[in-house]
Amino acid sequence: MHVTKYLLEESQLPRRWYNIRADMPNPPQPVLHPGTGQPVGPDDLAPLFPMELILQEVSEEPEVAIPDEVLEIYRLWRPTPLYRPRRLEQAAGTRSRIFYKYEGVSPPGSHKPNTAVAQAFYNQREGRTRLATETGAGQWGSALAFACQLLGLECKVYMVRISYDQKPFRRSLIQAWGATIVPSPSEDTESGRAMLAESPDSPGSLGMAISEAVEDAAGREDTAYSLGSVLNHVLLHQTVIGQEALAQMELAGAFPDVVVGCVGGGSNFAGLAFPFLREKIAGRDIDVLACEPSACPTLTRGLFAYDFGDTSKLTPLVAMHTLGHDFVPQPIHAGGLRYHGVAPLISQLVRDGLIRADAYAQNDIFASAVLFARSEGIIPAPESAHAIHGALESARAADEAGEERTILFNLSGHGHFDMAAYDNYFAGKLVDVALDEEEIQRALRAIEGLPVPA
Ligand SMILES: Cc1ncc(COP(=O)(O)O)c(C=O)c1O
Repeated sequence: MHVTKYLLEESQLPRRWYNIRADMPNPPQPVLHPGTGQPVGPDDLAPLFPMELILQEVSEEPEVAIPDEVLEIYRLWRPTPLYRPRRLEQAAGTRSRIFYKYEGVSPPGSHKPNTAVAQAFYNQREGRTRLATETGAGQWGSALAFACQLLGLECKVYMVRISYDQKPFRRSLIQAWGATIVPSPSEDTESGRAMLAESPDSPGSLGMAISEAVEDAAGREDTAYSLGSVLNHVLLHQTVIGQEALAQMELAGAFPDVVVGCVGGGSNFAGLAFPFLREKIAGRDIDVLACEPSACPTLTRGLFAYDFGDTSKLTPLVAMHTLGHDFVPQPIHAGGLRYHGVAPLISQLVRDGLIRADAYAQNDIFASAVLFARSEGIIPAPESAHAIHGALESARAADEAGEERTILFNLSGHGHFDMAAYDNYFAGKLVDVALDEEEIQRALRAIEGLPVPA
């Protein structure tokens, strides 16, 4: 009898997060204060984040203990299953073995609560009573609303306008967990009002929504800012995914030749890939593939440069792959991948040749999503469908090379709130955006004059 899913006991939940900084051949570049150009210190970040998260942000310890209170909440859905999708392998006609880790079993339906719960916990322990955040697809906003509800914090979500309109039920979910939500750009902040004055019909972007949430948090003593991706501590919290997957691959008697994830800011990708990169840095041969939309090709066509994390230049400067902080990606349906930058840790690892990246058009990713749904049943989130497509492309390349590979990908969330996107795909209405080089060069002018990474 074939095994379909590999399950761990609750007692096997990882007790520590894995910090890749301790093993990186080259450390990430320092984060700079935009005014002075000097590295920021913990005190600069204290108005926005609790001290424990600031310390995790700069920690070089290889492991960080997960607090019991966080583990107790993780147990609501963790450990998550690892699947062997044999029907998908058959439908794709590949000789390779495919595995996937499924993060859609969490209450909000994605990997995002792995960090939302940790962030809400540290904020609550240090006396904050309210969190402000942005959300693209609505997955992060709903995860933080869920975490704040369980830990007794208020939550305000700035949701990118296009997703707010496309996904009314993500909005309802956020409200069901007790958070307040507005479309971004909004009238609630100075930066939102400025953006609306300039462009009243703006579809919004993650960069804009981050400006609003940062401004909200900086202006209120009771409020901290919470980010769902990009930062080192967020990626750290996601490493429970890859640690579980390592144990589950062992149960399956296999080890991946290829590890695949989709990349918006980079957190689910890092969550799965970093524990495997630890093995790669130690000498194992693994192809680690980051998948992004061709409409927002940060890793494949962006520059490695210092840039702001948001549109209004309120955040510190970070060295990362970027398309420029005022790049507004086309309103593709993978809303969670519409971000101009990508995590500094991932950017550095791409620069060091430990991770490679590829970009896909949305009609191709929906074709793979539908093939997956028709073989395995689960309706994938459009973001996660990039990883499915990357895994299938890797399988195809292996077949063409006459090789059998073991491929592991992260299915970061389900797409139950993305059915409008599927409707559009079935109606043939999805547009594949071809970004011309001139547009990219124009967007990159925004970073001219900023410090240059060493
Ligand atoms: C299901 C899902 N996957 C992936 C992402 C992309 O974020 P990240 O790159 O931080 O994993 C999102 C973001 O909203 C998401 O909702």
